Amino acid sequence: MRDFDTSPPPEFSSRPWGRVNYDRIGKLLALLHPEERKLMTWLASTVYTGAGEIVDAGAFLGGSAACFAAGLRINRKVTRKDCRIHSYDLFRKGNWLPSQLKEWDARAEGQSTVDLYHDQLGENDFMTVLYAGDITQRSWSDRKIEILMLDCSKTKPLNDHCMRMFYPSLIPGDSYLVHQDYAINSGLYWLHSTMYLLRDYFEHLATVDYGGTTLFRCIKAIPPEMVEEAIARQDEAPEAIRDAAIAWANDLDQPKLARAISYSHDFREE
Ligand SMILES: C[S@@+](CC[C@H](N)C(=O)[O-])C[C@H]1O[C@@H](n2cnc3c(N)ncnc32)[C@H](O)[C@@H]1O
Repeated sequence: MRDFDTSPPPEFSSRPWGRVNYDRIGKLLALLHPEERKLMTWLASTVYTGAGEIVDAGAFLGGSAACFAAGLRINRKVTRKDCRIHSYDLFRKGNWLPSQLKEWDARAEGQSTVDLYHDQLGENDFMTVLYAGDITQRSWSDRKIEILMLDCSKTKPLNDHCMRMFYPSLIPGDSYLVHQDYAINSGLYWLHSTMYLLRDYFEHLATVDYGGTTLFRCIKAIPPEMVEEAIARQDEAPEAIRDAAIAWANDLDQPKLARAISYSHDFREE
C-alpha cells in the first residue's frame, strides 16, 4: 500500500468554506459546529456536480441535510435538485442526548422526530428523501454517491454496515467523505482503524479547526472485498494499527488528527 498523500490540493488547503455566508444556513437544530455547517454547505454549493447522490447518514433533526440543501439550492451546475439528499436516521427521541435542545427535550422517549426534520428543511424539503429506522436494516441502490456524510457510525457494527452499504458506490476522484467524530477524542477507534486500512482509496483533504469533521476524497474504486478486509482487520494487532494510523496522521501534518486517533484507541473497548 502506498502512503497517504501529505499535501491537500490547494483548493482545500485555503479552506474556502470559511467564506460561506452564515445567513444562508440560518439558525439550525443541529449537533454541528458552525465550521462543519459551512463545510457541508460549501461542498453542496461549489464542489457537488450532481454526478452522484448526497448521503446524510445520521441526520438527527435535519441539521446536516439543511446545510447540504442550502448549498444545493444555490448550485448552478446541478439542475435536478429534487430527492438528491438521502437522510438516514432512527428519527426517534432517544436518551443518548441530555438536555441540549428544547425541541428534542420536549419529546417523549421513542417519539418520532420526523416532523422536526421537515420543519427544518422547509422549502428545501423536496431535495431530500428520508429513510427512518435502523440503518443496518437498509441497503443502498446501485446509484453513485458523490458526497457521503457519516455521522451515525457510533458503534463498530454501524460503521461496518455503512462502509459495506456506501463505499463501493463512491466515484474515484469525485466523491467526498465527510467523516464526523474523526478529529476529536471520540473513542470511536474503528473509524481510524478502517480508514487507515483503506488509505489507498482515499486522500485526506482537510480537518476542521472546530468540531470533529475530517474530509476525504475517494481516489480509487473501493471493491467490496477491500471493505471486508478492513472490517476483518480493524481489531488485528490494534496497537500496531494505532501506531501506524497516528504516524500517518502526523505525516499529514495534522497533530490534532493524530491526537484524536491516539485518544480514540486508548478508549478502545476490550
Ligand atoms: C450526532 S447525531 C447526528 C447529528 C446530525 N448530523 C446533525 O446535523 O445534527 C447521530 C445520529 O445517529 C443516529 N443513529 C444512531 N444509531 C442509528 C441507527 N442504528 N440507524 C440510523 N441512525 C442512527 C441517531 O439517531 C442520531 O440522530
